[in-house]
Amino acid sequence: MKAVGWTDLMKLSATLYIVSSFSPVAQDIVSTGAGQQLFNNACRTCHSIRDGDNRLGPNLHRIVGRKAGSLPDYNYSSAMRDADLVWDEAKLARFISNPDEVVPGNKMAPYGGVASAADTRKIVVFLSSLRTQ
Ligand code: HEC
Repeated sequence: MKAVGWTDLMKLSATLYIVSSFSPVAQDIVSTGAGQQLFNNACRTCHSIRDGDNRLGPNLHRIVGRKAGSLPDYNYSSAMRDADLVWDEAKLARFISNPDEVVPGNKMAPYGGVASAADTRKIVVFLSSLRTQ
């Protein structure tokens, strides 16, 4: 991993601040495909975004606003099925960076979480953009 300097960190926090409302910058991330690219690298081995297309993991079609563990045709862990939460952007971001902290005992292992907060944010922006598709 490339070392991150102070200037990078300042730029990053400025970006995160702007992206945290669904702004033109966030849409830009979608249109440039940065979020999708990250999703492809970190998630697509196990997840499709197409409705009904479950793989090793459940499909993530319109995941923002969906109740956790709620697809009828996917065999969730009981931890996920009983999690009793609705995925919003904040919960998704926390789950992606540390799955066990949000749903202890989930079976998303061996996936350990995305390390970079900026990457997490981009993936969530991408997933959030699927709400309208
Ligand atoms: C190694 C395979 C694997 C990878 C990689 C993976 N997941 Fe998962 N994911 C799973 C499995 C399996 C489950 C079901 C967990 C359970 O039932 O406890 C899951 C569940 C989920 C859920 C809950 C879905 C629901 O219907 O409630 C979300 C959201 C999710 N993953 C997002 C992601 C994102 C975003 C990434 C990439 C940053 C990712 N996952 C990477 C396997 C994976």
